[in-house]
Amino acid sequence: MTLVLPPTPDSLRLAADLLRQGRLVAFPTETVYGLGAAAENPAAVRAMFAAKGRPADHPVIVHLSQASQLRDWAAEVPPPAERLAAAFWPGPLTLVLRRNKRASDLVTGGLETVGLRVPSHPVARELLQQFGGGIAAPSANRFGRVSPTTAEHVLSELDGPVDLILDGGPCTVGLESTIVDLSRGLPALLRPGCITAEQLVAVLGPLSIPEASVAPRVSGSLESHYAPQACVELIEPDRLAARATQLAAQNLKVAVLSRGESLAALPESVVVIALPNDDAELGHMLYAALRRVDELECNVALATLPIEQGIGAAVADRLRKAAGPRAVS
Ligand code: TXA
Ligand code: MG
Repeated sequence: MTLVLPPTPDSLRLAADLLRQGRLVAFPTETVYGLGAAAENPAAVRAMFAAKGRPADHPVIVHLSQASQLRDWAAEVPPPAERLAAAFWPGPLTLVLRRNKRASDLVTGGLETVGLRVPSHPVARELLQQFGGGIAAPSANRFGRVSPTTAEHVLSELDGPVDLILDGGPCTVGLESTIVDLSRGLPALLRPGCITAEQLVAVLGPLSIPEASVAPRVSGSLESHYAPQACVELIEPDRLAARATQLAAQNLKVAVLSRGESLAALPESVVVIALPNDDAELGHMLYAALRRVDELECNVALATLPIEQGIGAAVADRLRKAAGPRAVS
């Protein structure tokens, strides 16, 4: 049975106790909801992988209550990591560092590095503080699906295997954390997010942005990820209406994710889901919109890409992945 509780002092104590007992607790962060397990409890981490249906060789992020715990998990903390932690923690940034022994193969997927993050969401912070240790937490969705930005999203996919969901309302950022690899050579941006490449460069200097294919095993770097059931098709703004009309004529149920493009004269069967034009707002709304496409049982969702600057780069990355070729399952 999955409990859903508001984050009161009692439910936060219960959540920390459950984690100590090796149980699974979903909790809000400022990015997306995480599916938490005690990072040093192998049985708990295994149960978390099983609940998600995630392959064992995919590493998970260890969440910490403060930057001073970095040394508990990382073999070394190079100066750029110190600078990023000072600039952006607590916040939506994950650092990949060389691991120390506390970071087991289960958590790192056998890699020699570990992903570490100090989130800023008050509920996440309180839970981390009460629990004391590291909480291993991937996004609280089934593997390959859209990350949850509300407690209802978590419940819709993980009712049963998760013991408690702390309902902290909708996540403010709505996109997963920015991931920077500082474990070798030039710092590398593994996953764009709300902390933008421009902000990272201002603190770090040069930053490499590797092609997904050469990046280490980042599940978010699979070609299709963060995807709804419906097919997602990316299209130029001026072709949106014509393509929607064409698909609707093939008896497909079509959703248009619209950021205010002119959409005169669409067939009646086409659903228009209005999205904000502001990039931060768009990031905040995107996953709820992709889930809405499935709730409405659409076959296809048409979307346009925002300009790839700032948070727009992260939104475009997630839309490309949602539209990417799918593995046959
Ligand atoms: O915002 C977020 O990052 C959320 C919240 C809950 O913290 N978490 C999240 O976790 O998105 P997940 O597991 O869905 O995505 C984390 C990504 C995965 O793609 C994983 O492969 C990558 O981080 N990752 C974790 N540790 C890594 C490592 N040592 N090296 C490279 N990539 C790593
Ligand atoms: Mg995920």
